[in-house]
Amino acid sequence: MGLLGDFFLKKGKAVERKKTVLPPLYDWLKVDMHNHILPGIDDGSPDVATSLEFLRRYHQLGFTTVFATSHIRHPLFPNNREIIKNAWEQLEAAPGRKDIPVKLLYSAEYFIDDHFLDLINKNELMPFSGSYILAELSLSSRSYLDMDQIAGQLIGKGMHPILAHPERYLYWSKSLDVFQKLKSGGWLLQVNLMSLLGYYGKIEQRVSTHLLQEGLVDFIGTDAHRLNHFDIISSIDPKQLELLKKTYLINKLLTP
Ligand SMILES: [Fe+2]
Repeated sequence: MGLLGDFFLKKGKAVERKKTVLPPLYDWLKVDMHNHILPGIDDGSPDVATSLEFLRRYHQLGFTTVFATSHIRHPLFPNNREIIKNAWEQLEAAPGRKDIPVKLLYSAEYFIDDHFLDLINKNELMPFSGSYILAELSLSSRSYLDMDQIAGQLIGKGMHPILAHPERYLYWSKSLDVFQKLKSGGWLLQVNLMSLLGYYGKIEQRVSTHLLQEGLVDFIGTDAHRLNHFDIISSIDPKQLELLKKTYLINKLLTP
């Protein structure tokens, strides 16, 4: 990690501030398709200035394309197409945005519930890259909904369903065959980078590593909510990076 000096004024005196520059560790991956970069509409970036800083860090890490996936989860995050588009437009129009060479597009991370089923039925989903839909389950309790049926419905509408961070659903951590079953039902699996690095805990690290080694992972995402997440992502060790580079990931195919 390199350090670059710049200056700020403190009590009228110029003081050097050390600014972190992250290494371009992910220039081979290029696309992040899971994050909370859009300002002020979920539990991710709180404002435009922070979102711009997200973009700068993406650029430093070697990413060229970011699909923003703000939560749509009623009633906690009652987002919709209009709210997400407005937040995206606000960020795209921000002073300094044009100086950061990262393409930003928007989609959503849908919570799998009755509202999601409603959106599917009404054809109101916002896929990324034409047909990909990112969806998540509760971290704490099993869903009563039939995952095979939901995948079937989405596929029937020409979409590719992706289950976000399967390694974080700890109620599945002792029955790993569930992941194979989800894949057979049509779900693509997206693992969080920070799970592999042990950020959420040992179980998430073990399950995500297992999924990678078994060839069950289709996407890698940052799921970045805060700026410090980029520091964690940049702390990946060379062995883990090699394993990821060897993995067939759909991310790599999606640069517009
Ligand atoms: Fe997320």
